[in-house]
Amino acid sequence: MSGMNQYQVVDGSEQALRDGTIKLHGPEAFEGMRKAGLLAAENLDALAPLVQPGVTTQALDNFVREFTLDHGAVPATLGYRGYAHSCCISINHVVCHGIPSDKALKDGDIVNIDVTPLLDGWHGDSSRMFLVGDVPLKARRLVDVTHECLMLGIAEARPGKHLGDIGAAIQAHAEANRYGVVREFCGHGLGRLFHDAPEVVHAGRAGTGPELRPGMFFTIEPMINLGKPAVKLLSDGWTAVTRDKSLSAQFEHSIGITEDGCEIFTLSPAGRDKPPYV
Ligand code: MF3
Ligand code: CO
Ligand code: CO
Repeated sequence: MSGMNQYQVVDGSEQALRDGTIKLHGPEAFEGMRKAGLLAAENLDALAPLVQPGVTTQALDNFVREFTLDHGAVPATLGYRGYAHSCCISINHVVCHGIPSDKALKDGDIVNIDVTPLLDGWHGDSSRMFLVGDVPLKARRLVDVTHECLMLGIAEARPGKHLGDIGAAIQAHAEANRYGVVREFCGHGLGRLFHDAPEVVHAGRAGTGPELRPGMFFTIEPMINLGKPAVKLLSDGWTAVTRDKSLSAQFEHSIGITEDGCEIFTLSPAGRDKPPYV
């Protein structure tokens, strides 16, 4: 798709269709996303003290479900394409979409928790890394650089820039640190839909891809590997792991393009967007 038909101005009252167009939202949609994004951030803030050696990922998933329902929202992942949990929890060499289970966290793990409350029809999609007990410096560095990658991508998000500028900034920083950028999973448009156009790649060439316009909503969610970029999917059909078993980290924010930059919907109100969370 190209040209003006690539974009569609919406006011949020119409049926949201996955028709491949990039939606341009108005003020009421920003208000809806602000609330959904804040709830995602508050959920991640509340999880931080629970992420300790010995806790099972199913216990953390139960907390996410209760927290979300208690705040008048629904976990968007519950029942999504047959997924039966309220969040994704990805430990160490798991790249993304780790399934909560009776497996317990252990000292030294790095863990991504990805939550998506659906509040009043709007999706707030965000993930952060958590450090379990004493984490080796090499792993902490990966986590720090991955958060820097996300924020460098967000720094490119303003009208007139292109989606490729975001991927290029992320890739440059990751590769300068000799890390691998995962190609198989991307950020995505969102709003009334969980996964919508455009696809937001985390590696690429500056100046390529759709131009950013006010009212666009999308996630940026780079997955960065300590080793090579390649991933493989486990037989459960969800869990993606690094092929070389190297550690992988990810952070995700949901953003909206404004007239002169962007608004991050999923910032922590407590300023706890990355570890350490104390
Ligand atoms: N929250 C994930 C994302 O960032 C999607 C998870 S879909 C699930 O897009 F089904 F795996 F939960
Ligand atoms: Co997402
Ligand atoms: Co997510």
